[in-house]
Amino acid sequence: VGVASTGLDAIVPRSDFPALEEVTYCNSASLGLPPLPVRAAAREMDDLLAKGTVAFDDEIEARVYDGARAAVGELINVAPDDVAITCSVTEAIAQLAWSLMPGPGVNVVSTNIEFPSVTYPWLRVAQATGTEVRLVDVIDRPGELTVDDVAAAVDRDTAVICISHVQYASGALLDPSELVALARAHDALLLLDCYQSAGVVPIDARLWDLDFLVGGGLKWLGGMAGAAFCYVRPELLDDLNPGIVGWRSTPSPPDFDARQIELAPAARRLEYATMPYSAGIGLAAAIRYLLDVGIERVLEHSHALGERLIAGIDAVGAEVITPRERERRAGLMNITVPGRDQAEVTRALNRAKVICSPRLGGSRFSLHCFNSGADVDRALEAIAGLHAR
Ligand SMILES: Cc1ncc(COP(=O)(O)O)c(C=O)c1O
Repeated sequence: VGVASTGLDAIVPRSDFPALEEVTYCNSASLGLPPLPVRAAAREMDDLLAKGTVAFDDEIEARVYDGARAAVGELINVAPDDVAITCSVTEAIAQLAWSLMPGPGVNVVSTNIEFPSVTYPWLRVAQATGTEVRLVDVIDRPGELTVDDVAAAVDRDTAVICISHVQYASGALLDPSELVALARAHDALLLLDCYQSAGVVPIDARLWDLDFLVGGGLKWLGGMAGAAFCYVRPELLDDLNPGIVGWRSTPSPPDFDARQIELAPAARRLEYATMPYSAGIGLAAAIRYLLDVGIERVLEHSHALGERLIAGIDAVGAEVITPRERERRAGLMNITVPGRDQAEVTRALNRAKVICSPRLGGSRFSLHCFNSGADVDRALEAIAGLHAR
């Protein structure tokens, strides 16, 4: 606490995030802050839509997410055609779960500390098909989740492994290449959720040879609610028959042919209806903003801020749930103050304008490109103040 913040200035103009004038914002894992250029891009789309079809006809609507798919493609190093834009990550996972529809005699592996939307679609499909959903039990040691824990649940009947790259509550990061190797060794498919990593951890779906990757715009990407994405490895597309289809799922949406379902020969077959288009435009702008900053730089910065937080936490005798090694964490850190009602600790921090969320019995801090060493110091001072009481 009280260490000089030299060298840990924000790596983006803080004036792009007016909320920072009021609070110490450490909650990108919950709701990210859209920078001003992202809000401007979304507003421009809103203004266009306010004129109805005058400037937004069927043809334009059919192509409106081309830019968003291209931006996601750049972010995760895949072709735009292999990306669908969805309204939420839940929707993306559910679309995949009902496409794959694993039946009786096979299993889906996840963990019991995932964000609920990672497991619910499979639990729901299981109600319909009788597939087995295996949730690796790490609830008593959430920060220690490893690929070996997952491997212990996988066998030759595993159809899908569905898991987060970075855990939303503990912040533990798994190596995607190891997960892919595990899936391949058992002829299973891997669905990776990168909602807590995209925007802060460089992602290369092609290099890692991922099968499916889902993520959203609202948190670390600094977009807004209503736009998420889903990557499908092109070799898997032909067999992908989504549970929800609609006019937008087809090769040419403006054709409106009600007689038969023909699916687009691209991942966008997972898109099916009218969407909150300004959110998708915002997603594209948000990705461009971060790509200009450089995701490698963002990760380096978040790691450095995390180390400063860890050092200060150790100094006041609080505990870190998140793995300490850089290779095992990204931008979020979960800490607990022993002997204190942790929910009250989080509430007190929020009252002190250090904005974080209660998760897993701890307080979850997210440290992003707009955060500075001074932000971490303010958080530590607030924690030390609580600890002393
Ligand atoms: C890892 C992860 N997956 C999925 C979700 C749910 O996202 P959405 O609200 O877009 O469905 C969250 C939200 O916190 C999350 O952290």
